Amino acid sequence: MADDRLLMRALAGETLPVPPVWMMRQAGRYLPEYRATRAQAGDFLSLCYTPELAAEVTLQPIRRYGFDAAILFADILLVPQALGADLWFVTGEGPRLSTVTGPGDFKALKPAGAIHDRLGPIYETVRLLRRDLPAEVPLIGFAGAPWTVATYMIAGRGTPDQGPAHALKSSDRATFTALIDRLTEATTEYLLAQIAAGAEVVKLFDSWAGSLKGDDFDDFALAPAKRIIAALKAAHPDVPAIAFPRQGGAKLDGFAAATGADCLALDTEVDTDWAARVLQPQSCVQGNLDPQLLVEGGQRLIDETRRIRDAFSGGPHIFNLGHGITPDADPAHVDVMLKALRG
Ligand code: CP3
Repeated sequence: MADDRLLMRALAGETLPVPPVWMMRQAGRYLPEYRATRAQAGDFLSLCYTPELAAEVTLQPIRRYGFDAAILFADILLVPQALGADLWFVTGEGPRLSTVTGPGDFKALKPAGAIHDRLGPIYETVRLLRRDLPAEVPLIGFAGAPWTVATYMIAGRGTPDQGPAHALKSSDRATFTALIDRLTEATTEYLLAQIAAGAEVVKLFDSWAGSLKGDDFDDFALAPAKRIIAALKAAHPDVPAIAFPRQGGAKLDGFAAATGADCLALDTEVDTDWAARVLQPQSCVQGNLDPQLLVEGGQRLIDETRRIRDAFSGGPHIFNLGHGITPDADPAHVDVMLKALRG
């Protein structure tokens, strides 16, 4: 029997009168209940690795807003940690990792199959969520795409232009491609395990895809996504995949078909009319409200929400943001967005 939940129907290609809605980073610091649970956990990584608390913060935005999907609470950088990298978060600055800058660092990494030794608590969070989520709310599992994760592993931190990763790509191609391959295998393993534990949809975050140009985009954003999705589909043909090659620009045209993704998540820079005309006939689209509007609120939030809904009303659409909601967003503005969307 066909799955009648709104998110699953949109992912299956159905045009709906009101699109399903969820938000990137919907469990996060803009919510007082998130900050309380995070304080209880002590720090961000402890929150990720404590299944009861990670499940609790995943459920919080579902209870508060009644979103049409939940996304597993975890982080894309848990995979490098499971491969043996050191990982820590500096308050107010972001993630730090031990770096991979040559063959020696690469050889010290564990094989892809070893990631499960460390990631068991994440799979347990997925199991708890399948038990505790309302039956009408599908659970989205996720991972970082190999290129984006590699940019953090190579630089040891977030970088504005992914300079260190581009440098390694030209100076030591063998190490760079070996790292992309290892991450492609590990990401496949990780998502298969999330699906086995109960994830019903998967999303691949390639936040820095936009800095890959020309053949580099095809080789390091498109090809790894295609390999990962093909492996997932071989084992689980009915589990939909959402791809998010952020700032992919013109490269978004054809991406869903080439990778096998069921849905393309759109960043804030994508023109909605172009996407409705060119991309939506190819696959379901997700997006792409500017998260800054959830800080500002007001009429512009209402107008933009309706404009995006209406622009995508002729095909399969999942309403979402073009990037994660920020810590300074007002939780009341999310209610305004939902009322504008559904009302
Ligand atoms: O969307 C969700 O609610 C699911 C959970 C989730 C988190 N991170 C929780 C998180 C997801 C899907 C991610 C993805 C992620 N993590 C990405 C890709 C998406 C994107 O935003 O581009 C990236 C690049 C990361 C790496 C990462 N994690 C960074 C750069 C940071 C620090 C930035 C910041 O906002 O401080 C994190 C930390 C992080 N991951 C937080 C959350 C809720 C904030 C941690 C805290 O509570 O202090």
